[in-house]
Amino acid sequence: MEKLLKAVLVGCGSISHAWLNAAKAEANLEIVGLVDINIDAAHKLAEAFELVEVEIGTELQKILQSNKPDIVFDCTVPEAHVSVTLAALAHGCHVLGEKPLADSMENARKMVEAAAKAGKLYAVMQNRRYARQIKGLATFLRSGAIGNITTVNCDFYIGAHFGGFRDEMAHVLLLDMAIHTLDAARLISGADPVSVFCKEWNPRGSWYAHGASAIALFEMTRDIVFTYRGSWCAEGINTTWESDWRIIGDKGSVIWDGGDHFKAQTPVEDSGFIRKCDDLEIPVWTENEMPKTGHAGALREFLECVRTGRTPETVASDNIKSLAMVFGAIESADAGKRVEILG
Ligand SMILES: NC(=O)c1ccc[n+]([C@@H]2O[C@H](COP(=O)([O-])OP(=O)(O)OC[C@H]3O[C@@H](n4cnc5c(N)ncnc54)[C@H](O)[C@@H]3O)[C@@H](O)[C@H]2O)c1
Repeated sequence: MEKLLKAVLVGCGSISHAWLNAAKAEANLEIVGLVDINIDAAHKLAEAFELVEVEIGTELQKILQSNKPDIVFDCTVPEAHVSVTLAALAHGCHVLGEKPLADSMENARKMVEAAAKAGKLYAVMQNRRYARQIKGLATFLRSGAIGNITTVNCDFYIGAHFGGFRDEMAHVLLLDMAIHTLDAARLISGADPVSVFCKEWNPRGSWYAHGASAIALFEMTRDIVFTYRGSWCAEGINTTWESDWRIIGDKGSVIWDGGDHFKAQTPVEDSGFIRKCDDLEIPVWTENEMPKTGHAGALREFLECVRTGRTPETVASDNIKSLAMVFGAIESADAGKRVEILG
């Protein structure tokens, strides 16, 4: 029989609904507390999910003391991730927190160190890793079907009219969205960042205050070059939210539209100007291989890891390398030069 795990959720805004929907489907998980500095938000969330037994409050420490949960789910804004995570770890809780891991590399390092010291899990909700398509692609690439990867190109073009905090946010594309894409690039390439040169700008006609577009050139380990081109104010011919990808290996290429469309080819002759190529099939993961996707998939893996002591793939000590790509790109754009990425 699976152990019942008790959890407190902090930050009862829009994304907390995705978390509670996923939590609802977990048999041996009980939400025992909801915390928000805006008490109305916490009450509204409790009402929406009919959580009548939960303790509701504005002070995390108090709720942790009275409920002694196993886990804290952190759905607060990025600036609050450090204080919530450190408080939760100090109370002996495992933490699953929303992306981005932290609002600075300094805070991220503090959080990773605190988790190691406490001997607790701290993992990040990098939900776009939990899709059957990207897992199928990564498995295909790891099999060596197109040889050693040399180049990864990615385009993200969406005309997103959010309204709200993003309209005023500095580095909006890199900070709020690119973490998903840059993290996906690490999964796809199987490589880590070494350096970046980035141009970030706010195009004429942008409805954002700052940094709606960016182009970044990353050098990755194993001599892989990764290019990211993105915009949140590109009207028309949008890519998927997962981006449009081309991966080149020394024995072939793959394109992926971020959805269900893949094409992969490998040469079948070893002479000639343009070599004849055959198509290869990319097997997308099945429901058996990945029963739950998105937030639900990430939550499932995290709970399993809490129970078994296994490490989830979005553990903060690894995810910090994806965050370093974001902050490296911002530093490069601000300085107008290539910067090394230290992680
Ligand atoms: N994984 C995804 O696909 C995805 C999608 C959207 C948002 N997010 C992330 O989720 C997080 C929250 O985003 P959102 O859109 O729900 O924002 P939101 O503004 O709707 O909600 C955030 C909530 O946190 C509360 N809060 C802020 N500081 C707090 C603190 N110190 N203690 C307790 N509560 C506090 C706010 O009062 C608010 O209710 C962000 O990190 C964001 O990047 C992730």
